[in-house]
Amino acid sequence: MYQGKTKYRNKDVALRYDTERFTQSVARKEQRMVMQLLDLCQGVVRSLDVPSGTGRLTGLLPGSAVATDVSREMVQRVGAAADYHLQGDAERLPFADASFELAMCVRLLQHLPDEYTLARVLGELARVSSRYLLVSYFDSFSWQQARRWLRGKLKGRVSGRRAWRWKQMRDIMRGLGWQLSARRCSAPFLSEQWFVLFEKQS
Ligand SMILES: C[S@@+](CC[C@H](N)C(=O)[O-])C[C@H]1O[C@@H](n2cnc3c(N)ncnc32)[C@H](O)[C@@H]1O
Repeated sequence: MYQGKTKYRNKDVALRYDTERFTQSVARKEQRMVMQLLDLCQGVVRSLDVPSGTGRLTGLLPGSAVATDVSREMVQRVGAAADYHLQGDAERLPFADASFELAMCVRLLQHLPDEYTLARVLGELARVSSRYLLVSYFDSFSWQQARRWLRGKLKGRVSGRRAWRWKQMRDIMRGLGWQLSARRCSAPFLSEQWFVLFEKQS
């Protein structure tokens, strides 16, 4: 069990998430990048947001949207942003193969403890989506990551967030039969977070 999987199972954390977790400017930037990538998706009738958190981005999804999160406290707050919501684990999604044309996974991959779990989560997302996959991840080749590493060394603290190399992400997705469609970052090489749209190879 990793910290990102347990810490949101708390009523107070869920209550404070929308108002305290992000500054307005970060929230707006992320929304903009997600919207730019969603604009490239065609013919989406059913979409999935996992982890949905409190539904911060769920309302942007095209078609009928399902929100899923391992934290009941978080997913119960999604409300009207989704047509349907349920508690579920991204490592074992409670959906049949190709249940959606689009699956979105924002701000989860940095919480995963190892590459095995990363491949497992990406495999689950790829299994339940028949066409598009929009994910965000922290890229290890960035100024923010270098600063995080340095701070950890100086203070002797290990960050609970984990960055991945783009090659790792790309190779896992290629192995699953998916290809890159588009990528966005608010400040490449400075900011650690990238948003990536993959499309299933036909
Ligand atoms: C930082 S929040 C991101 C939520 C939302 N995507 C957003 O951008 O606002 C991380 C979420 O991941 C959820 N989570 C952690 N591990 C999970 C797992 N294995 N399956 C599903 N949700 C998980 C947590 O409960 C939490 O709500």
